Amino acid sequence: MKKDLLSLLDLEKEDFEILFKRAIQLKERYAKGILDKLLTGKTLGLIFDKKSTRTRIAFETAMIQLGGHPIYMSTQDTQISRNEPAKDTARVLSRYIDCLAMRTFDHSLVEEFAKSSTIPVINALTDSFHPCQILSDLMTIIEHKGGYEGIKIVWVGDGNNVANTWINAASVLDLDLTVASPQGFEIDAHIIKAASADKKSHIRFTNDPRDAVKNADVVYTDVWASMGDEHELSERIEAFKGFQVNKALLSLARKDVLTMHCLPAHRGEEISEDVLEDKNSVFWDQAENKRHMHKAILEKLILKN
Ligand code: CP
Ligand code: NVA
Repeated sequence: MKKDLLSLLDLEKEDFEILFKRAIQLKERYAKGILDKLLTGKTLGLIFDKKSTRTRIAFETAMIQLGGHPIYMSTQDTQISRNEPAKDTARVLSRYIDCLAMRTFDHSLVEEFAKSSTIPVINALTDSFHPCQILSDLMTIIEHKGGYEGIKIVWVGDGNNVANTWINAASVLDLDLTVASPQGFEIDAHIIKAASADKKSHIRFTNDPRDAVKNADVVYTDVWASMGDEHELSERIEAFKGFQVNKALLSLARKDVLTMHCLPAHRGEEISEDVLEDKNSVFWDQAENKRHMHKAILEKLILKN
């Protein structure tokens, strides 16, 4: 595995398999009360320039449970907010901590940090990608469906950072992925181009959510206005009419369809209340699995094993 985890295109299929296996193993061991203090004496820094509940707490608890320490830094509390350059901050932090998780707007900032750091840098969400999310989501699919091969995954909603990450995962793992977005809110062409040409044969794009979800094993959605896009919400509510994941839409999918959402969810917008409370919705497993997957990622990057 590379030094950093900035995008899922940084991973080979083998890396995905190692992380899934290890995260599932660490989850089982934790459930049995076995404490794997693998990162004793190690420190994870978290620089977050956007809000977070799950990713932050999953990283912090993962680090603590592995015997290490997390240090959370809001960008506003650091000299970054007073324009200390990324390349200087990265070099300084590399002298204090063993790994850095960053959540920010522009993806180029995490790339800049990774370039100047001697420690691993993890993308904890940027405007472009959310790699740790999709790793734990695929782990959840493996737990519920026994694997991801032959599983029809359908994205219903905005062509955003989480959707981009599904494209990356699909291109490395050759997933059966269908992306349904309203006109004007599709995945950017450069993301599709960057997904390796020979393997994206099973990725399909459409503006018709009803057609997309036919025979779906997994239907995944996310907010219509991501962090940073909130000012466009009313325009987006108009544009996304027909894209709500509700019982009527899911009736077109397979009977045992899993409904997924990275959360936070906006009830009555991208998802209906009854779907949120449905037994086939696995949002809470997704949220839990972030902690186990983050452990596997931290172990891999910090211990380089
Ligand atoms: N899914 C996710 O990344 O949630 P948070 O924004 O709460 O971290
Ligand atoms: N697309 C959402 C994901 C939040 C976890 C956002 O970027 O706000």
